[in-house]
Amino acid sequence: MRAVDLIIKKRDGHALSSDEIAWLIQSYTRGDVPDYQMAAWAMAVFFRGMDDRETTDLTLAMARSGDVLDLHDVAPLTVDKHSTGGVGDKTSLVLLPLVAAIGLPVAKMSGRGLGFSGGTLDKLESIPGLRVDLDAATFRRAVAEVGLVIAGQSAVLAPADKQLYALRDVTGTIESIPLIAASVMSKKLAAGADCIVLDVKAGRGAFMATVEQARELAQRMVAIGTRAGRRVAALITSMEQPLGRAIGNALEVKEAIATLHGQGPDDFVELCLALGAQLALLAGVAETPAAARARLQAALGSGAAWHKFRQMVQYQGGDLRCVDDPALLPEATLKEPVAAPQAGYVSRIDARELGLAVVELGGGRARKDDPIDHSVGLVLEAKVGDWVAQGAPLATVHANHIEALDRVRERVVQAFALSARPPQPLPLIFETVS
Ligand code: URA
Repeated sequence: MRAVDLIIKKRDGHALSSDEIAWLIQSYTRGDVPDYQMAAWAMAVFFRGMDDRETTDLTLAMARSGDVLDLHDVAPLTVDKHSTGGVGDKTSLVLLPLVAAIGLPVAKMSGRGLGFSGGTLDKLESIPGLRVDLDAATFRRAVAEVGLVIAGQSAVLAPADKQLYALRDVTGTIESIPLIAASVMSKKLAAGADCIVLDVKAGRGAFMATVEQARELAQRMVAIGTRAGRRVAALITSMEQPLGRAIGNALEVKEAIATLHGQGPDDFVELCLALGAQLALLAGVAETPAAARARLQAALGSGAAWHKFRQMVQYQGGDLRCVDDPALLPEATLKEPVAAPQAGYVSRIDARELGLAVVELGGGRARKDDPIDHSVGLVLEAKVGDWVAQGAPLATVHANHIEALDRVRERVVQAFALSARPPQPLPLIFETVS
């Protein structure tokens, strides 16, 4: 087979066979198909799509590009969660210690930042020393000994996704239902969890702009996981404004730590409880959503979830001093509030624009191997529905270069819409797909 023929076949709108998809993924993972051909193929998929059979084949080929873990010898039942990507979405950092604290072992494979959306791996790496490139044996040991592990794709775990994910980030090929479904579900199948909850984001700050698109993505992923013998449910949740208040790697870790200490923003805490309750129901450790929430709230309130987070940081090599005293996490040198140009109610916050502003500050990548600046980002001083006086701060920019700060200031002002009347409250959760 030749990669160019498969690019042309997809470009012309034909379905690839199972063998062709398996060959392409294996050859790319081995390095026999170069990035430029894979980028052209991804663009062809972006425009032409894939049917359900192709998407399932792609997912399985990507999952099988490395080890597919069976964790039943270390834990009878494990859980995992994945978000399709949003702005200010630090949910994994709180939700996973929370469910681990109620006795559900977590085996989680995450990704890096993608386009305007942040990634759990980049966030975790703000903690000095913390390693996410774990081999299969360390991953398994962490599940057995800590009951919580968050790792990245590696040379042995979903390597095809590691390569394709980084390529899509910088080639305009992220917002494709089959590519997102295969990327997410290949990681979930490879990491071995029995119960998986998917947080499928919809809105301006998500890769799926509408609830309808998010529903289609959710249904495809739930079907792939169910066919593979996993218990899967998806929540479709809103990305019409950033989640919580912090956007940017170390800033989000700080907000997650505050949340684990019981001082989290309401929308963020609510999302963690809703996703956690869904996992508890899938795992069969709670009879009703109310009973699941009560257990999760108790684990948050007692400090048990914080204790799990600390254990994970320590096991993965992170410097505990930096989580015990978050002032030691990377910190930007310039912090400047951006003032409201007029008084009014905040009626809209363009999450995508703010995500891109953080990339511009250095918090995301323009090229595959760009290093990122963990310290930069934004902290929202107002959310949708809040009243702000003229000159009051809308957000604080955390930057290390004055030029970048100057460029971002106007972007932040433009991202906020102010109106004379209070807006309708924004929904947080639209529906569940199971
Ligand atoms: N999350 C992933 O893991 N992959 C995508 O393609 C998008 C979000």
